[in-house]
Amino acid sequence: MRKILRPLAICSFIWALGIGITLFFGGCNQNRENGEADHTGAHTTPAPDSKETTATPGSHTTPEPTATPEPTATPTPAPVTVNTDTSTVTYLVNREYPLPDDFVPEGLTTPDVLFPFSDTSIDKAKMTPEAAEALAELFDAAYEEAGLTLYGISAYRSYARQYTIYATNLAVYGTAHTNRYSAAPGRSEHQTGLAIDISCASEGFGLEDTFADTPEGIWVAENAHRFGFILRYPKDKEDITGYNYEPWHIRYVGDELAEYLYRTGLTLDEYYGVPSSLSAEYLDTTPFIDTTAESYLAIYRQYH
Ligand code: DAL
Ligand code: ZN
Repeated sequence: MRKILRPLAICSFIWALGIGITLFFGGCNQNRENGEADHTGAHTTPAPDSKETTATPGSHTTPEPTATPEPTATPTPAPVTVNTDTSTVTYLVNREYPLPDDFVPEGLTTPDVLFPFSDTSIDKAKMTPEAAEALAELFDAAYEEAGLTLYGISAYRSYARQYTIYATNLAVYGTAHTNRYSAAPGRSEHQTGLAIDISCASEGFGLEDTFADTPEGIWVAENAHRFGFILRYPKDKEDITGYNYEPWHIRYVGDELAEYLYRTGLTLDEYYGVPSSLSAEYLDTTPFIDTTAESYLAIYRQYH
């Protein structure tokens, strides 16, 4: 009997030992796999370098989930309080954020660009030094990159000059039309020296919607931001800007903001969170100057 029991005991021992070994190593494998999963997700996989993190679509690099993404070209500034500081290039001017009557930008100078008139020492050929420099670069690039010749038409306007333009428009075209195209004195970007109306020969140097469809207008719309300019009154934003589409009116805001507004499609008013709050009915019927004042009536009488 002992002879039978001893082999049985040995077999049982070997069997039990086998189970023990299997359980022991099976458990270790289980732990190792879990461990690898953990490690892959969090700890030991070397952090990818910045190139891997910003791998282009289609590359096979897996971005490190905890890595901080490289900043895009322009950070998103938000929220933004309205800037009315005229020592900057990004300040807002519109009907609700007017300039002081006596504001004149410093250092007005004539940009080195073509104008369709010969006396370029007059106000409307002038801009601030920074805007003038950027405009020359924009026009030079249009010519060098696309063989297109742009012209400056009307840049700086004093408060007094804008008064005459607005009042004349009011007298000739009426309130509704005038308020869609012409800013009242103090409310025009032209007083900043940072804005200019531009055109081309095929448009007869005029300021019409058709400029948008010319090669020059198309190029400007696609490239002005590279030189710090925005199309200030875009199509389909009339309710926000309070003005009709003006593909010819560009405003210098500097490279960073211009790039941001181009990329986001925001107007300057939207960027500052202050779209026009004036209804169409109000704009159709309300002049922004005193139409009983002698200064206006003198202009009115010239046309009636
Ligand atoms: N045409 C723009 C709105 C201006 O008069 O300033
Ligand atoms: Zn303009």
